[in-house]
Amino acid sequence: GAAELGPYRHYMQKEIFEQPRAIADTLESVSNIMPELFGDKAYGIFKDIDSVLILACGTSYYAGLTAKYWIESIAKITVNVEIASEYRYRDSVPNPKSLVVTISQSGETADTLAALKHARDLGMLHTLTVCNVATSAMVRECELAYITHAGVEVGVASTKAFTTQLAALFLLALSLAQTKGRLNDEQEAEHIKALRHLPVAISAVLALEPQIIAWAERFAAKENALFLGRGLHYPIAMEGALKLKEISYIHAEAYPAGELKHGPLALVTQEMPVVTVAPNDTLIEKLKSNMQEVRARGGELYVFADADSRITASEGIHVIRLPEHYGLLSPILHTIPLQLLAYHTALARGTDVDKPRNLAKSVTVE
Ligand code: G6P
Repeated sequence: GAAELGPYRHYMQKEIFEQPRAIADTLESVSNIMPELFGDKAYGIFKDIDSVLILACGTSYYAGLTAKYWIESIAKITVNVEIASEYRYRDSVPNPKSLVVTISQSGETADTLAALKHARDLGMLHTLTVCNVATSAMVRECELAYITHAGVEVGVASTKAFTTQLAALFLLALSLAQTKGRLNDEQEAEHIKALRHLPVAISAVLALEPQIIAWAERFAAKENALFLGRGLHYPIAMEGALKLKEISYIHAEAYPAGELKHGPLALVTQEMPVVTVAPNDTLIEKLKSNMQEVRARGGELYVFADADSRITASEGIHVIRLPEHYGLLSPILHTIPLQLLAYHTALARGTDVDKPRNLAKSVTVE
């Protein structure tokens, strides 16, 4: 009820602002990296596996795509990520040395549970879940688990569950790396420090809300939007597009910026806002030339940059800067403004933000 919402207008807004606490709670018992964070038997299992297969749906699937970048980069283990509803019905080549990882807020999504069962029936017996509900079917079914402590998520569009999944998956990448001898003490200490500082860093990004509201008013008048990202932030662009379509009903599509020239550039006109996730990472120069391609066709850019991204606002280029570049954990910070943009755009359009039409919080039937 209204009392529970406090100063917030919707559960989604409240849940967006709960993220510093949700992340802190999820990481609370982590003082150093060790496989046992995932269960007593994790060390032996992590030793044994030679690849990872991630299965999930919706927003949780995008968390999985982000994890692929982290696990391959930090632990040097091959990762495949599959949409659960596809995986369960296709012929695939099982690898008994693969760690099957399901990601689910609810732990009750029918397709993800069925995909897990399918993997097991194929002989893949090492299973781990990242899940927000400790008592769920998913946690019961998996050998190993990391419980995120996002708390109850009411809004149908997932927010704090997603960022806590990312934090847990980053821990998974680090724990796998450590077991495989690919993480030294110094690296471990640096990653722990960055994880610990996340709640403060997220709070600083949440303070950008007034600037995002100003953009949202203009977005509310559009029917289409393009989201661009590269590398680690491509899945974040996908999540941003999903948030916008779920709650504002604006058609939104995400592209890895290097693919623009292979199709979506044909759609770019003055009517097409192009949201760009532009952290100050090694791909920033490439991304800038992708942005030029959009400008040359009259497209209007809405750029989420970092303090030091060296992208300047000009005619048709709007820039909001995140306070700092956050290295490998940057996807968590860059998710926040995209959530706020979707939320305020939906608010301006007057949609039912917490209960968007045709969607359910948890899909427990096929
Ligand atoms: C539904 C929800 C999404 C969620 C997806 C997967 O579509 O509306 O927010 O991402 O299910 O749910 P899960 O509980 O498995 O993460």
